[in-house]
Amino acid sequence: RQDSYHVSEELGFVLPDPLEELPPYYQPWMDVALRIPELVNSHELRSHVNKMPLLSSEFLQKHRELRLAHLALSMMTMAYVWQEGENDTVEMLPCSLAVPFWEVSQRLGFPPILTHADGVLANWKKKDPKGPFDMENLELLVSLPGGESVRGFFLVTLLVELAAVPGLRSIPTVINGVKCGDAEIVARALEDISQSIQDMTDALKLMQVYVDPAVFYGKMRIYLSGWRDNPCMPNGLMYEGVQTEPMEYSGGSAAQSSLLHCFDELLGVSHEGNSGSFLTRMRNYMPPAHKQLIQDISLHPSLRSFVQQQTCDRLNRAFHHCVTKLVAMRSYHINVVSRFITVPAAQARQLRNQSQSSEVELVSKAPTALEERGTGGSGIMTFLKSCCFTMGLSCRSTM
Ligand code: ALA
Repeated sequence: RQDSYHVSEELGFVLPDPLEELPPYYQPWMDVALRIPELVNSHELRSHVNKMPLLSSEFLQKHRELRLAHLALSMMTMAYVWQEGENDTVEMLPCSLAVPFWEVSQRLGFPPILTHADGVLANWKKKDPKGPFDMENLELLVSLPGGESVRGFFLVTLLVELAAVPGLRSIPTVINGVKCGDAEIVARALEDISQSIQDMTDALKLMQVYVDPAVFYGKMRIYLSGWRDNPCMPNGLMYEGVQTEPMEYSGGSAAQSSLLHCFDELLGVSHEGNSGSFLTRMRNYMPPAHKQLIQDISLHPSLRSFVQQQTCDRLNRAFHHCVTKLVAMRSYHINVVSRFITVPAAQARQLRNQSQSSEVELVSKAPTALEERGTGGSGIMTFLKSCCFTMGLSCRSTM
């Protein structure tokens, strides 16, 4: 059910049936990982991690064991670093966490920090295994401080991944259609992709139903932040027992989802400058098989040239419709970012200036280092707008 790109017919990039338990030897990890929100709230997470034994990672064998281990270790790492907020971070991750996290990351091929592949792709279970993939029937395996909003944030993102699956399935059809010179087949597959991108945007709309902007901005967001391009951890983080120099890794970002990378490569949308290099760098935060798929899509003969050469109205329309839907998805994402980051950041600034209310409002206590940046470290609005702008240009250049 899963091909060599680790993409499943039914679930796309989402990890099928993530394990919920590790072998019993790893109980000391899970004992902490499953209590992250309460241990952070009582300021005890760091001391619990400091007491964890240094375990060998050699008893982790299957891919899904490694993925659950990476998820648990990454969530503990974020909680450890950010437990006391942005002014009281740590310089060093203790070896009981750092060493196995490093080893598991090496084996999986993505970095020792919380990524989209952890928090979203490998962090779900169905309450009723036979029930549907919806908000009522899904839950997280490992969580962070922020209650229902954390659940909402990761699970809505999971639903966006699932909405893209029919579109992903149509990518090989497009590629083969181009190879055989069959304009009708390509047009039909592109129509399916447009529909799928529309469904992704619709799924993303659930963010405002399930996530509270004040909780997201004031409580949860810091735990997604990394130690690269982050002014409050300018030197990165030392992984004790791994390397004596600190290392820098970017925090979680939707740019780590392989979906838009695949559609961009297929449609011939290329991002240049800072946005382009950020997006390229984020491919190293994906499971290597997914990164490989994106690269392989980019090597096929150009769909864009094919569309230009064929004089097929339906094909032309289908192609432009796809690009338009992708632009619309990206503009809607900007909308989400203003609601969940820009607006609360402005409120926080205002509240900080009115000292009497600053005690009560959650947003006023929000960290300030990433007011204008994404948790991945990009200049968030400049980045997202430049992606949209690039696409606007690419729309026009082929009309
Ligand atoms: N990247 C998102 C943010 O900046 C999660 O908050």
